[in-house]
Amino acid sequence: MMIRKARDADLGGIQTLLRANGLPVEDISMTLIEGFLVAEDARGSLVASAGLELLGSSVLLRSLAVSSKWRGKGVARELVTRLEDIARARGQHEVWLLTTTAQRFFERSGYERVSREDAPDEVRMCKEFTILCPSTAVCMRKQSTQCAAPMTERPKTF
Ligand SMILES: CC(C)(COP(=O)(O)OP(=O)(O)OC[C@H]1O[C@@H](n2cnc3c(N)ncnc32)[C@H](O)[C@@H]1OP(=O)(O)O)[C@@H](O)C(=O)NCCC(=O)NCCS
Repeated sequence: MMIRKARDADLGGIQTLLRANGLPVEDISMTLIEGFLVAEDARGSLVASAGLELLGSSVLLRSLAVSSKWRGKGVARELVTRLEDIARARGQHEVWLLTTTAQRFFERSGYERVSREDAPDEVRMCKEFTILCPSTAVCMRKQSTQCAAPMTERPKTF
C-alpha cells in the first residue's frame, strides 16, 4: 500500500471509487484531482482517495473513500492527516467538510460539527455545499491550531 499524489491517469479510478461509495463525482476533474491523494495496493490498483479543494483562504476536505477490503487499517486517518499537513503548509487555517456518513470518524480526527451558516461565504457557495451534497449533510471544521504537528517523512505500513 502506497499513498501518493493523484495523477491525471487516476481520474477514472477515483470516479469509480467515489461512485461505488455513493459520493459525488459530477465535479471530479483533472484540475480538481491535482489536490488529491490516492492509495494504491501492491498491484497498483487504486484503493482510496481524498482531496483538498481550495476555496479562497479556506479549504474543503472531500472525496474521502477507502475500498471495503482496506477499511479499518488506518488508511483514511493517514490520508486526512497528510491533507491537513498540506493545507497547513499552504497557510490554510481551517479545513471544512460535509459528510452524511462519517461524522463520528471525523469527530475522532478532531473535527467539530458547526452550523452551515457559520461557514465562510466561499465555503457555503461552493458546489459541494450548494448542489452536490444533500442538505442533511453535516458541516464540520478543524482549525489549524488543532491540526497535528507537521508531517515528517515517515514510512507507513498498512
Ligand atoms: C469512512 C471511511 C473513509 C473510513 O476509512 P478507514 O480507512 O476504514 O478508516 P480508518 O481505518 O483510518 O479509521 C480511523 C479510526 O476511525 C474509526 N472509524 C472508521 N470509520 C468510522 C466510522 N464510519 N464511524 C466511526 N468511526 C470510524 C476507526 O475505528 C478508527 O478508530 P481508532 O483509531 O480508534 O482505531 C470508510 O469507511 C469509507 O470509505 N466509507 C465510505 C465512504 C464515506 O463515507 N466517506 C466519507 C465521506 S465524507
